[in-house]
Amino acid sequence: MKIIQARNYKELSKISSEIILEEIKNKPNLTLGFATGKTPLQTYKNLVNAYKNKKVDFSKINTFNLDEFYPIKSTNKKSYSYYMFNNLFNKTNFQRKNINLLNGETKYPEKESKDYEAKIKKHPIDLQILGIGLNGHIGFNEPNTPPNSKTHLTELTHIKGKALTMGISTILKSKKLLLLASGKKKAKIIKDLMNSKPNKKLPASFLKNHKDLTIIIDNDAGSLL
Ligand code: GLP
Repeated sequence: MKIIQARNYKELSKISSEIILEEIKNKPNLTLGFATGKTPLQTYKNLVNAYKNKKVDFSKINTFNLDEFYPIKSTNKKSYSYYMFNNLFNKTNFQRKNINLLNGETKYPEKESKDYEAKIKKHPIDLQILGIGLNGHIGFNEPNTPPNSKTHLTELTHIKGKALTMGISTILKSKKLLLLASGKKKAKIIKDLMNSKPNKKLPASFLKNHKDLTIIIDNDAGSLL
């Protein structure tokens, strides 16, 4: 486990986007796993800028997203599909055929989950970007999700509703993991994460079993360490 402490959100985002761009340089047909939420937004802006400045070509990259609300229409502004197209895909040259998203409109969430696992097996994720929830969730793997979980439909604990999410074992199969945490409100969960062995109460703690995990925090998220 490697921990990088950035001074602030801007620096955290600079470091994370540089890591992603470096990986793409080394392997132009990389498979990338994306997270949503507020934390990676500036990272994605940096990727868009790199594309606009002709520093990167995303056309050979396969992508998978961690999770999606269920049920939800992809046109709904709250959907992660909308988020990805709005913040990254529409502003770059990722190819539609290479973009894989969990379909929040499906009538068959179990089949959707199985198909998604099969697609990931075909294009194993080289680099998975992750955020962390205030309760330690990764993707939508809430506390008490088993570590051997695969992509599945889950009940959300912090809000009413359901979601499709890669499982913890799906995430751990990625070659490299990059977890981002920014801001004072993440300080407590980052402290808990640093101080705990892998356990079900804190799903992100299972990431510690991975051999190539990098965590980037800013000073605020690290303020209780
Ligand atoms: C959300 C998502 C996660 C995300 C996390 C943190 O609920 N399901 O994939 O990483 O919570 O979000 P934020 O970056 O906004 O704090």
